[in-house]
Amino acid sequence: MSRPHPGPTGGRPTDTDQSTRPTPATAHDDDWRGVAAEDREEVDRRVGVRLQARSRRLLRSLLRPHAAGVLLALVLVVAENVAQLAGPLLIATAIDTGVPAAIAGRPGPLSWHVGGYLGCALATAVLRHAFLRLSGRIGQDVLLELRKRVFDHAQRLSLSFHESYTSGRMISRMTSDLDALDDLLEMGLDGLMSSALTVVGVAVLLVWLDQPLGLTVLATFVPLFLVARWFRRRSQSTYRRTRTTVARVIVQLTETMNGIRAVQAFRRERRNESIMDGLSGEYRAAHRDSLRLVARFTAVVRLFGNLTTVVVLAVGAWRVAHGELELGVLAAFLLYLRKLYDPLDELAMVANAYSSAAAALEKISGVLEEAPAVPEPARPIPLPAPRGELRFHAAGFRYTDHGPLVLPRLDLHVPPGQTVALVGATGAGKSTLAKLVARFYDPTEGAVTLDGVDLRRISDADLRRAVVMVTQESFLFEGSVADNIALGRPGATRAEIEAAAAAVGAHEFVSALPEGYDTHVRKRGGRLSSGQRQLVAFARVFLADPRVIVLDEATSSLDLPSERAVQAAMETVLAHRTALIIAHRLSTVLVADRVLVMADGRIVEDGPPVELVGGDGRFARLHRAWLDSLAPAEPSAPSGLAEPSAPSEPPPASSAPPASSASADTSGRSGQPRRDNANANQAAPRPAATP
Ligand SMILES: Nc1ncnc2c1ncn2[C@@H]1O[C@H](COP(=O)(O)OP(=O)(O)OP(=O)(O)O)[C@@H](O)[C@H]1O
Ligand SMILES: [Mg+2]
Repeated sequence: MSRPHPGPTGGRPTDTDQSTRPTPATAHDDDWRGVAAEDREEVDRRVGVRLQARSRRLLRSLLRPHAAGVLLALVLVVAENVAQLAGPLLIATAIDTGVPAAIAGRPGPLSWHVGGYLGCALATAVLRHAFLRLSGRIGQDVLLELRKRVFDHAQRLSLSFHESYTSGRMISRMTSDLDALDDLLEMGLDGLMSSALTVVGVAVLLVWLDQPLGLTVLATFVPLFLVARWFRRRSQSTYRRTRTTVARVIVQLTETMNGIRAVQAFRRERRNESIMDGLSGEYRAAHRDSLRLVARFTAVVRLFGNLTTVVVLAVGAWRVAHGELELGVLAAFLLYLRKLYDPLDELAMVANAYSSAAAALEKISGVLEEAPAVPEPARPIPLPAPRGELRFHAAGFRYTDHGPLVLPRLDLHVPPGQTVALVGATGAGKSTLAKLVARFYDPTEGAVTLDGVDLRRISDADLRRAVVMVTQESFLFEGSVADNIALGRPGATRAEIEAAAAAVGAHEFVSALPEGYDTHVRKRGGRLSSGQRQLVAFARVFLADPRVIVLDEATSSLDLPSERAVQAAMETVLAHRTALIIAHRLSTVLVADRVLVMADGRIVEDGPPVELVGGDGRFARLHRAWLDSLAPAEPSAPSGLAEPSAPSEPPPASSAPPASSASADTSGRSGQPRRDNANANQAAPRPAATP
C-alpha cells in the first residue's frame, strides 16, 4: 500500500496538536495553549488576555444555542426592574400630589397611586418568577452541555495526556470548577442583569429627580469604578490560585484513595497527612486571600454608599429648608439611593463569582483545547473484513517530546494468523510495541499498518473490532460479571456470554459466585481475585472475537492449571488470528509460531522457538539457564510443550520439561529463572503442542 504518512488527521502534526505539544519554534507563542498555563498563578498580560478570550469563546459557544432564551430573560428582567423602579416614583407622587388631594377631599389620585403600586408589586412577582425559572433552566442546560463536553473530550484524550494530567485534576475540573461556574450562572445572570439595570435606571432617575443631587451621586461612581477595576485585576490571579490549589488537594485525595492499599501497606499515612496539610493550607491561604479581597471591596462599596447618603441627606435637607426641593422628592431620592447601593453590593458579589468562574473556565477551556494525540481520522479507510496482517514501517516512538527514543526505527512484518511471542528484559519495549499495535499511541515516526492500512487511517470502531489488547491489569467496571464479559460484544446474549466464559475456563468459578453471572463485581472488580479478573477479561476477548489479539502478560496472575486452561482455549481462538503475546512464562511462549527477542527497543532475535533454542543467542541462553534450574528437580523432559513458559528458555517443542516444571521468567533480566513451586506442584496436563 502507499506509504503511510502521518496525514492531516493522522497524528501529531495537525494544527491543533500544537496545543498538546508545542514545537520549539512555536513554544513561545503557544506556551499557554491547552493546559500548559494551568499551574501558573501569575500569567503575563499577553497570556492572560488570550486565556480570557478563550474562556469567553467557550462561554459564547455554550450560550449560543440559548440565544432566544437569553434574550427573553433579558426582556423579563428589564420589565421586572421597570416595575420595581416605578415603586418609589409612585410613592413620591403619592406624597406630593395624592396625599394633599386626599386631604382636600379628592381620594381619586391617591387610590390610583395605591393601585399602581399594587400592580407593580404583582408584576414584579410574576416577572421575577418567570425570569428565575428561565435563567435557571438556561444555566443548568449550559452546565449539562459543558459537563458532557468535558467528559466526552477527556475520554478521547490520549493516554499520554492523562498520564501527566492525572485523574485528580480532571475530577476538579468536573466538580469544583463546574461548581464555580454554576454559582455564577445561578446568581450571576440574575444578579448581574438586575443590578446593572437597577444601577443604570436609578442613576437616570436620580438625575431626573434632581440634577444637582443626582450629579453629586454620580460623581462617586468615578472612585467606585477605579476600586472595581482594582478588584477585578487582583481577584483574577487570586482565583486562579484558588482553582489551582483546590485541584492539587483533589489530586492528592484521589491518588491516596486509589492507592489506599499501598498507603496502608507501606505506612505512608503520616507522610500523606503532612502533604495533604500542606496542600490544604495553600488552598486555605488562596481562598482566604480571595475572601479578604472581597471583604475590602464590599466594605469600600458600602462605605461609599453610606457616605453618599450622608451627603445627600445634608445637602437635600438644606435645599428643602430653602424651598428648592420638595420633601417627597428628597424622600424618593433617598429611597432610590438605597436602591442604588444595594445592587452595587450585589454587583460586587457577582464580580466575585465572575472572577472565580472565569478562573474555572480558563482551566476547563484549556482541557477542551487539548487535542487527542491519537485522533480519529476524518475520512477513515474502511476495514470491513480485516485479515490481521501487521507491519511496522521504520516505526520510531518516544513517550514525550524530549524523552528517549524507546523504539528506534522498528521494521516488522507479522503475516495474518501468526502467533508471535515477545520476550526481553524489563524495559526492553515490549509493552510499548504492543501499545502501538493497539494504537494507544501513534508512532513518532514511520507507521504501523494493519492489512496495509495505516492505523491512523482506520476508524476507532473498526480498529477496536479488529484489535483487542489484554493487559495484566484487567480492568473490570462496576456491574455484574455478565456485564463485564459482554463488554467484548455489546448485545451478546446470556448464552453467548456463558459460552465465552466456559471456553476460557471461567464458567466454574462464576457459577460458584453467590449470584452467578449476575454477581456484582464491585469497584474495579475488587470482589474477584486477580486471576479471576483475568479470566473474565479473557472471556471478554473470546466474545469480542478480534482478528488481532495482543496479550501483555495477560496470564501472569493465573496459576498454572488456569493458565493452561486459558491457553487451551486461546489456542483454538488464536488458530486463525494474529496474536502478539508478551509473557514471562515459557509455556506461553512455546505456543507461539515465532519468538521476537527485544533489547533496548530493537528486535535482536527473530525465529521459531525451536530454532532459537537451537542457536546460541539470548533466547537459547535463557533457555539453557532455565533447563539447568529445572535439572535438580525434574530431570527428564517428556514430549510436548509443557508448561515451561518463558521465552528465554523454552525447550524445543519436542523436549519440553515435565508437567511439574517451574515457571521460568522469560525476561532474562537475571538469567536466573524464577521458580514457582506452588504452581509447579499442581501442574495440569499440558495443552496440545504448538502448531
Ligand atoms: N508511559 C510512559 N511514559 C514514559 N516512558 C515510558 C512509559 N512507559 C514506558 N516507558 C519507558 O519505555 C521503555 C520501555 O517500556 P515498556 O513498558 O515497553 O517495557 P517492557 O518491555 O514492557 O517491560 P516489562 O517487561 O517490565 O513490562 C522503558 O524504558 C520505560 O521506562
Ligand atoms: Mg511491559
